[in-house]
Amino acid sequence: MSSKKSPAQVSRRAFCASVPALGATLSLSASASQKKELRNTDVYEYLKSLDGGWVDWEKTVDTFKSGDPEGIVKGIAVGWMSYTESLRRAEKLGCNLFVTHEPTYYDHWDNDESFFRFKSAREKKQYIEESGVTILRCHDMWDQYPKIGIPEAWGKLLELGEPIDGAGWYYVYDGAGATAANIATGMAARLAPFGQPGVQLIGPPDIPVKRLVLGCGAITPMFEFIEKYRADMAICTDDGFTYWREGAFAVDAGFPVAIVNHPVAEENGARLLAEHLAQVFPQVPVHHVPQRCMYRLYTA
Ligand SMILES: [Fe+2]
Ligand SMILES: [Fe+2]
Repeated sequence: MSSKKSPAQVSRRAFCASVPALGATLSLSASASQKKELRNTDVYEYLKSLDGGWVDWEKTVDTFKSGDPEGIVKGIAVGWMSYTESLRRAEKLGCNLFVTHEPTYYDHWDNDESFFRFKSAREKKQYIEESGVTILRCHDMWDQYPKIGIPEAWGKLLELGEPIDGAGWYYVYDGAGATAANIATGMAARLAPFGQPGVQLIGPPDIPVKRLVLGCGAITPMFEFIEKYRADMAICTDDGFTYWREGAFAVDAGFPVAIVNHPVAEENGARLLAEHLAQVFPQVPVHHVPQRCMYRLYTA
C-alpha cells in the first residue's frame, strides 16, 4: 500500500520504541481503568499510540467504519474480518465495539458504494446501523507491529522460532536445512485446526531450506523475498500470489513456495491483538472471534 512506510523507512529507534514496555502498558491500563467509562475513542487512541512510525494517520484505513467514536464500550470483540456472522457473534457476547483487521464492505478503503447493489451488502449495513455496533479497523498499525503483530504472530503459529532477519511486513526464519516438503507438511499439521485443508507447494519438494521467508497476510511479494531476503523458500498467501506469474516462475526456477489461505495466515495476529487489548482494558470483556480458512476443499 503506497501510504505505508517501508520497513527500511522506519528507523530502528522508532521500531524499538513501538514495543510497549510492560510498565507502559500497565500504566496506560491503569489510567484507562480509572476512567469511569471506556469510550470507543480511548481504544482508538491506544491503538494509535502503538504506531512506531510506519502508519500515515492522514491516509490510513485504521479508522471507524460505523458507530459513535464517543460511545461507551461495553465489550470489545476482535476478529480478522468483520463478517456479518462475526458481528452477530460479537453482539451475542455483549460486545458493542468490533475491532476488525480487514474491511467491512469488500473494499480496502470501505468506500465503494457500488457493493450496495447487492441485497446482502444492504442487509449487512442495515444490521450494523440497527445494532449500533461500532466498527474500528486495526490494519496498518497491526500489520507491522513487532513481536505480536500480524507477521510475527504468523511465524509463531508455524512454530518457526525467532526471526533471523527482516522487519515490518517480512521476516526470515532459519529453515535449518529441512526440505521444502517437510516444512510444508509441518505447516499443514499446524494449520489443520484452522480449517486449512493442506498446504500447496509449488517447486521442488526436496530442496534443503535455510532462509525461509514469510510476509504479512496478503503482502507476500515472492520476487522481493528472493531478491532482497535471499529466500530459499517462500510462504505466500492466495491473496498475495498469482499462479500464472509467481507460480510459473517458481516452476521454471525450481524455487519452492508454500501457499495458504490469507485469513489463516492472519488469524493468530488477530487473536494476539485480542489478548493484548484484554490486558490493557481489563474493565471490559474482550473476546477474540475465531475465524477459519474461507473455503472447504472437496476431493474426488
Ligand atoms: Fe490481510
Ligand atoms: Fe494484515
